[in-house]
Amino acid sequence: MTSTPDLTNPIRRDPDYQTRLEAAVTDQVIASFGHARTDRLRTVMASLVSHLHAFAREIRLTEDEWDLAIRYLTDTGQICTDTRQEFILLSDVLGLSMLTVGINSPAIPGATESTVFGPFFVENSPEFALGESIADGVSGLPCYVSGRVLGASGGPVPGARLEIWEADADGFYDVQYDETKRQARGHLFADDQGAYRFWSVLPAPYPIPADGPVGRLLDAARRSPMRPAHIHFMVTAPGYGRLITHIFVGGGPHLSDDAVFAVKQSLITDFVRHPAGSVGPDGSHRDTDWYQAEFDIVLAPDQRS
Ligand code: BEZ
Ligand code: FE
Repeated sequence: MTSTPDLTNPIRRDPDYQTRLEAAVTDQVIASFGHARTDRLRTVMASLVSHLHAFAREIRLTEDEWDLAIRYLTDTGQICTDTRQEFILLSDVLGLSMLTVGINSPAIPGATESTVFGPFFVENSPEFALGESIADGVSGLPCYVSGRVLGASGGPVPGARLEIWEADADGFYDVQYDETKRQARGHLFADDQGAYRFWSVLPAPYPIPADGPVGRLLDAARRSPMRPAHIHFMVTAPGYGRLITHIFVGGGPHLSDDAVFAVKQSLITDFVRHPAGSVGPDGSHRDTDWYQAEFDIVLAPDQRS
C-alpha cells in the first residue's frame, strides 16, 4: 500500500531544502557580523564565515571530524609556551605563512625576495664587527659569507643593519639547546660601500619541531619535516623596506620539499668548498676545509614613505 506523501513536510515539498538550509545558516552568521565595530572586521568575518562554511559543505564535514579538529586545535594551543608557537608552525606547514609573506612583500623587480621569518629569531643579538665570526664555537665547517647591500637603483646602502641567525651542523639553533645561549647569531652593519662579511658555519638541513600536533599532521600526511640548509637574514636601513629572507645552500637536500614552502629560486646560493691549508678571503690560514658564499642583497624602497 502506498502512503500518502506528507506535503506538510518541507523536505518532501522542496528537493533543494537541504541546500537552502545550509546556505541560510551561512547568511545568518554573516549578517550577525553586519554591525561590527570596523568595516575591516565586517569584511574579514564575512569572508571567513563564507569560506569556512563552503569548506565544511564541500567536504561534507562529519561530526567525528569536527570533534577531531577541535581536539587538534586544543592540543596545538596547549603545547604553546613563550618559546614554542605551534600555531605559527601550523601556519608554516599549511603554506599560510609563505602566502602572507607573498601578499605583504610582493616581488619588486630587482629586489631580493622575502621568505618566512621562522620561530628562532631573538631580539638583542650580539653585535659583531665586519669580518668577525658569529659562530662562537658551534659545530660545523667554517663558512665565509659576504656581499653588498644595495638599493634598487644599484647604489650602496651604507650602514644597513644585518641580523643573521642559523642552525649548527647538527641542525639546531642555539636557543633550542638553552634559551639564553647566543651562538651562530648576531648583527653587524654594512660599511660605507654597503659591503658586509662574516664568518659562521656551513648550515645543515634540519627538521622543524615535529614532536607535537604539527609533527602528527606531517606524519599522517607522509610529509617530511625537513627544511633545506639556510642562513636567515633580516636587513634594515632607513628609507628601505625591511627584508626578511634566507639564503639556501645550492645543491643541498630538501630544496624541493621544504616543510614550510619557503624556497625561492633566487635565494639559492653557491656555497663553494675550499680545502684545508688554503687561505681565506680575509688572508686567514685555514686548517680545515671551509666554505664561501657571496650574496648581494637588494632592498626595495620603504613602501610606507
Ligand atoms: C626556520 O627556518 O627557522 C623555521 C621556519 C619555519 C618553521 C620552523 C623553522
Ligand atoms: Fe631556519
